[in-house]
Amino acid sequence: MLILGIESSCDETAIAIVKDGRKVISNQIFSQISKHQEWGGVIPELASRMHLEVINDLLKTSLEQAQLTMEDISAIAVTQGPGLLGSLLVGINFAKTLAWIYDKPLIPVNHLHGHICANFLNTDDLVPPFLCLLASGGHTQIIHVKDYDNYQILGETIDDAAGEAFDKVARLMKLAYPGGPEIDKLASTASDNLVSDHDPARFNSTAIKHGKYIFPVAKVGAIDFSFSGLKTSVLRLKEKIGEDIWERDKPKIARAFQESITKTFLKKIKDALTNLQNETTIVIAGGVAANTELRKQFKKEFSDANGYKLIIPDLQYCTDNAAMIASAGYFNKAKSSKDFGFEGFSRA
Ligand code: KG4
Ligand code: ZN
Repeated sequence: MLILGIESSCDETAIAIVKDGRKVISNQIFSQISKHQEWGGVIPELASRMHLEVINDLLKTSLEQAQLTMEDISAIAVTQGPGLLGSLLVGINFAKTLAWIYDKPLIPVNHLHGHICANFLNTDDLVPPFLCLLASGGHTQIIHVKDYDNYQILGETIDDAAGEAFDKVARLMKLAYPGGPEIDKLASTASDNLVSDHDPARFNSTAIKHGKYIFPVAKVGAIDFSFSGLKTSVLRLKEKIGEDIWERDKPKIARAFQESITKTFLKKIKDALTNLQNETTIVIAGGVAANTELRKQFKKEFSDANGYKLIIPDLQYCTDNAAMIASAGYFNKAKSSKDFGFEGFSRA
């Protein structure tokens, strides 16, 4: 089955063709990031207009890359939500029109379901059940994927998403949007997170312990997350240490920030596992799953030697793309419908 996937929920317009939910035949992405960078974040109105400008050409290139025509396509899968409404409407209307003209089934896909399915791409041996950490710009959840169409959200953020925290801290550090990859890069230039010239009076901050920059892991109930305190704690540290030291130690602080997020994720996954003792397959998904420190620590903790099977998507499938939408469409083909509106992701 060849599924054409369409994604336009935020600042990437993407069209892909995937065979049987796993084999990527073509994968086209037009990123609007450089345009939004001028404003320091995504401007929704601008995003919708840019989707509209490029979507036809992307379809053409995607079919050319796959050496296929619309007649060869079995069904069309499109991101239905969550996302920016104007942007979603461009992709949905484009998909509906194609489905109508070429008489193809149309499959509405939840964007978050798409992120999880990114792990099926080019990974033949991943089958549910598994435990998934999904961390993107708008969502942070731990999901028990019981079957291809049976998901249970076990925990989620009560305030900021992890990606949002990366973006906000990056802004504080005057780094470009999106902040996650920038913090990742900056942190990699710090060999440690030691506070070098320790002046106790000046450095009286909760984010400094044992001569190191260390941000606390928020204590929230069950398997939920909270990242807004972490963001505030970086801001308070900046105020405490002053502009000069802040500028000099930014890489170390970025590293400590990233370590705190990673530690939080590891702790919460372990907490979730205490209730799911037969679960040994761990999966990560979403833009934040591209983070170097996160990938490194997850590989260490959930190694084969420790009795786990860890699946991490290719970097190109962590952030928004349409191959993941095509894959989710394949595994959700029962949902196929010529008409649909918007839907949310409900908590079990
Ligand atoms: O999944 P995604 O592409 O879009 C949403 O559905 O939100 O995620 C985007 C988020 C942004 O917040 C971005 O800063 C973050 O993922 N991100 C990263 C990295 N690459 C992207 N965060 C940390 N480290 C990265 N390498
Ligand atoms: Zn996304």
